[in-house]
Amino acid sequence: MRGQITTASRLADIVAAKPSTATILDELGVDYCCGGNRSLLEVFGDAPYKAAALAAELDEVVVPEDRDWRGASTGELIEYILATHHVYTRKALGSVDPLLQQVMQAHFQHHGESLAAIHHMFNTLKAELELHLLKEEKLLFPAILSGDESAKSLLSEMEYEHEDAGSILHKLQDQTKDFTPPDDACESYRELFRQLKALSADIHRHVHLENYVLAERVS
Ligand SMILES: [Fe+2]
Ligand SMILES: [Fe+2]
Repeated sequence: MRGQITTASRLADIVAAKPSTATILDELGVDYCCGGNRSLLEVFGDAPYKAAALAAELDEVVVPEDRDWRGASTGELIEYILATHHVYTRKALGSVDPLLQQVMQAHFQHHGESLAAIHHMFNTLKAELELHLLKEEKLLFPAILSGDESAKSLLSEMEYEHEDAGSILHKLQDQTKDFTPPDDACESYRELFRQLKALSADIHRHVHLENYVLAERVS
C-alpha cells in the first residue's frame, strides 16, 4: 500500500512490509539487516532531503508477489526460511568455492593480494554459516516451534552470529569495491563476483527475516 513509508519508518519495517525494497537498499549500501532498527531519517541524519527522496522511492515500489511475513504463522515462516534461504545459502557456498579456486589459479599473478583476502573472507564466512545454519535447524527452530525456554538465549546467540556474518560481508564488499570485477577480469572472475553479490544480498534478506520477523515471536 502506498503512502505508508515516511522518513520516520524503521528500515526493518519497510523491508518486512515490502521485501522488494531490499534490492534498492542493497544497491545504496544501506544496512537494513543488522542496522534495521534505524529510521530513514537516522540513516541520512546529515541530509534529510535524501531520506525524504528515498522514502518516496520506496513507497512507490509495488511488486505483486511481495509477501509481508509478519502475518504468517511461525511454522510457515520457518518453513519458508528453510526452503528458500537455507537451501540457497548451501547451494551458493558450494558453487562459489570451486569458482574461487579456479579464478585464483588463473589470476593470482596479477590479483594475488585481493584474491587472497577474498579467499580468507569467504572461507571464514563459509565455515561460520555452515555451523550457523545447522544450529538454527537442529536447535533454534525446534525450540521456537515447541515453545521451549531455550529459544530466547539461542536467538541471542544467532543474532550475534548474524552480526559476525554481516561484518564479513561488509569487508568483502569493501575489498571487491562493491563486487566490481577488475577491468581485465575473465568471465569466471565476473561470475564469481556476481555470485558473491547474490549471496550477500540473500544473506541480508535471510538475516532480516530472522532478526526482526522471527525474533518478534520469541519473548
Ligand atoms: Fe537461517
Ligand atoms: Fe541465521
